[in-house]
Amino acid sequence: MNVLLTGGCGFIGTNLIRYILENKPDWKIVNLDLLTYAGNLENTLGLEKAYPGRYAFIRADIADSRAMAGIFSSDAFDLVLNLAAESHVDRSIEDAGVFIRTNVLGVQVLLDAAVKHKVKRFLQVSTDEVYGSLGPEGKFREDLPMAPNSPYSAAKASADLLVRAYVHTFGLDAVVTRCSNNYGPYQFPEKLIPLMVINASQGKELPVYGDGKNIRDWIYVDDHCRGIVAVAEKGRTGEAYNLGGDAEKQNIEIVRLILERLGRDESLLRYVKDRPGHDFRYAMDFSKSEAELGWRPEVDFPTGMRKTIQWYLDNRTWWEKILSGDYQSYYERMYANR
Ligand code: NAD
Ligand code: DAU
Repeated sequence: MNVLLTGGCGFIGTNLIRYILENKPDWKIVNLDLLTYAGNLENTLGLEKAYPGRYAFIRADIADSRAMAGIFSSDAFDLVLNLAAESHVDRSIEDAGVFIRTNVLGVQVLLDAAVKHKVKRFLQVSTDEVYGSLGPEGKFREDLPMAPNSPYSAAKASADLLVRAYVHTFGLDAVVTRCSNNYGPYQFPEKLIPLMVINASQGKELPVYGDGKNIRDWIYVDDHCRGIVAVAEKGRTGEAYNLGGDAEKQNIEIVRLILERLGRDESLLRYVKDRPGHDFRYAMDFSKSEAELGWRPEVDFPTGMRKTIQWYLDNRTWWEKILSGDYQSYYERMYANR
């Protein structure tokens, strides 16, 4: 199986490449990544050597139709796994343009290339945020209407609709995954869990948006990776599949857990101005994935958090390099006046 995986130098992509190379010996991967601020080539260092003939990297932009034409002409892909995206909600509030370019236009360019070059299956990695926000009750099901609330989630929802249109109009075999909040190794430190672990380990303040009572459904990244492969192998064309962690937590619970694990007290907690349009709660009903694919999350939250915190403590140089670069100016912009 010849796989084109986009966004493989980001958080989930890095973990998915490793998962596939270890668990799918007859899959070959071409990792296509633009290496934006979130893409880190160090994450995939050594894979060409460790898996001879099974892994290659190409730096390219999914929204560049000429580049995609060249890449799709030079190789016959059985499967495209599209993870490339701008992924951070706060950045989409600051500047939506690049989100539309990559998350919408980029997907259209990839879909056109997939149709033209007769790719056997296209899998779009989407998100639970396309459903909008829940109140205290209920869960997201695949048959809910989409109601995205941020420029990020609106762009992701647009991509889901494009995938649907290409299935119906061009007969493309395509599937969509919608997953909840991931955590684990290699997550960029702008996201809640790595940001809080790193700040706590440095004795810096932990900026909690609003009252800290917003709820997310946390899934360990390996479970998401297994889910993506299960949907690629067994999902029905034109269908979307929810993947979730069955671990709803208020943000403040997570921050307190991190403080406790790092031996810090609550004096580091700082409540800051809320995120505009902040979705209150996400929770996934993944019974369709369970029934059709035999998939459910396997890593419980305490185990996943233990592994994740340990990874960040053991891999200081990985995040120190990130913190010493452009990320510093982002952090100042985002948190200085909150
Ligand atoms: P990330 O920001 O860590 O990584 C994104 C990767 O895409 C980076 O390597 C970046 O260089 C690359 N990229 C960005 N623009 C590109 C372009 N134009 N062309 C080629 N490559 C480009 O993101 P992530 O958290 O790993 O998320 C991966 C995917 O999973 C995204 O589509 C995201 O919407 C989705 N998702 C994420 C989560 C989560 O909790 N992180 C949950 C559900 C779905
Ligand atoms: O639900 C899936 C989505 O999860 C993915 O599609 C996105 O790509 C991913 O970034 C993530 O989005 P969130 O906005 O939920 O994740 P984030 O880590 O930015 O924030 C999680 C929660 O923590 C959210 O309620 C906002 C809050 N938060 C976040 C940061 C960065 C804080 O309170 N303080 C912070 O400094």
